[in-house]
Amino acid sequence: MRVAVIGTGRMGSRHAANLASGAVPGAQLAAICDIDPSVRAKAESKWGVKTFADHRELIDSGAADAVVVATPHYSHVEICSHAIEAGVHTLVEKPISVTAQSARQLIDVAHRHGDVIFGIVYNQRTNPLYARAKALVGSGQLGEIVRADFTVTDWYRSQFYYDMNGWRASWSGEGGGTLINQCVHQLDLLQWILGMPSEVTCKCRTVGRHISTENDVTALFGYDGFDCSFRASTHELPGVNRLEIAGTKGLLTVTRGMLTAKLLKMDESEINARSKRDYGNKEDKKYRTVRKFYGIDNYLFDWRMGQQCKVLRAFVRAAERHDPSLLVARGEEGMGALSMINAMNFSDWSGGKVSLPVDEGAYADALAAKIKEEMNGKAGISK
Ligand SMILES: NC(=O)c1ccc[n+]([C@@H]2O[C@H](COP(=O)([O-])OP(=O)(O)OC[C@H]3O[C@@H](n4cnc5c(N)ncnc54)[C@H](O)[C@@H]3O)[C@@H](O)[C@H]2O)c1
Repeated sequence: MRVAVIGTGRMGSRHAANLASGAVPGAQLAAICDIDPSVRAKAESKWGVKTFADHRELIDSGAADAVVVATPHYSHVEICSHAIEAGVHTLVEKPISVTAQSARQLIDVAHRHGDVIFGIVYNQRTNPLYARAKALVGSGQLGEIVRADFTVTDWYRSQFYYDMNGWRASWSGEGGGTLINQCVHQLDLLQWILGMPSEVTCKCRTVGRHISTENDVTALFGYDGFDCSFRASTHELPGVNRLEIAGTKGLLTVTRGMLTAKLLKMDESEINARSKRDYGNKEDKKYRTVRKFYGIDNYLFDWRMGQQCKVLRAFVRAAERHDPSLLVARGEEGMGALSMINAMNFSDWSGGKVSLPVDEGAYADALAAKIKEEMNGKAGISK
């Protein structure tokens, strides 16, 4: 399969390198497209492939059966729509778009071209620890969920990172900050494992960086029967990464590299009903412990090719076999986390609780106002 990469900056060049080196069975790097001439010149000398300055020229040339879109967020809808309409299989980098409203337009295009494979790079889903967490919750082994907490403060980003490219951490260039860039992964995991929340209250801050968007987030998601706290930042050191889900039959924890599940023999409601002691019967409270490790093979794979390569391999298999069920995540699954992010921004701006699904039109209008404010120099803050 001839695969082209559109946008060969930090992430796109990794996809291109994996395709060029044969790390993706059945696929070869066919061409690259980038608006930056110096990036094109580098790609040409490194991989010896044809280069394009405009995605339409690349797609319409027929040089590729599939494309990977790794450009800044605002361009995803236009580029992916053009590719899908031309019958070219499309893998989009996260996030699917900046607003749920514009993402819906792209998903509509994809639905009208059901024979074209459309996937999204949600590489955190390839982490077997999160897959096991999903299986434990889905199979009911944890019982009814009573609490969830996700804290991710170990994805550090320096001022240098933000200064590398003008589009980063701005409302006009990126459509947000740490929420839309980094947290989109963890918010996708939350909705993948627990389903979509019905409401959110969120507070964002900008800490220690000269950027106009957030790099510190505290949110509380409301689910039917429980709440889930979400804490994320990209300025803290050394930081922590911990997902905790408590159910009536046990507790699971995923930290970097390890999942631990403590599974009770019976449901807490039964333990409570049987108990003739104030702190419950000691015997009834016994649990068995299940552990799973990320494993050296996965660490080595990530180091050599990046977790994203697993998503690309699955995409190529799905396109070869015309089977979207082989994808790590279908393009339309990009909507869940994006809708959560739009609602979180909305809550931060209004200072109140926001219901989900988010009012897509109202959010698009509010973002346009935020961009105007940024252009007028009012949104640049660093506390
Ligand atoms: N899955 C992951 O873990 C992961 C990690 C990093 C970045 N990303 C995503 O990858 C995408 C790119 O991020 P990055 O860090 O590589 O950015 P980057 O700025 O390093 O690279 C973007 C490239 O796109 C080019 N470009 C911009 N507009 C274009 C257009 N219209 N047509 C063709 N080329 C265009 C730029 O010249 C640049 O070379 C973003 O969506 C980002 O969120 C994903």
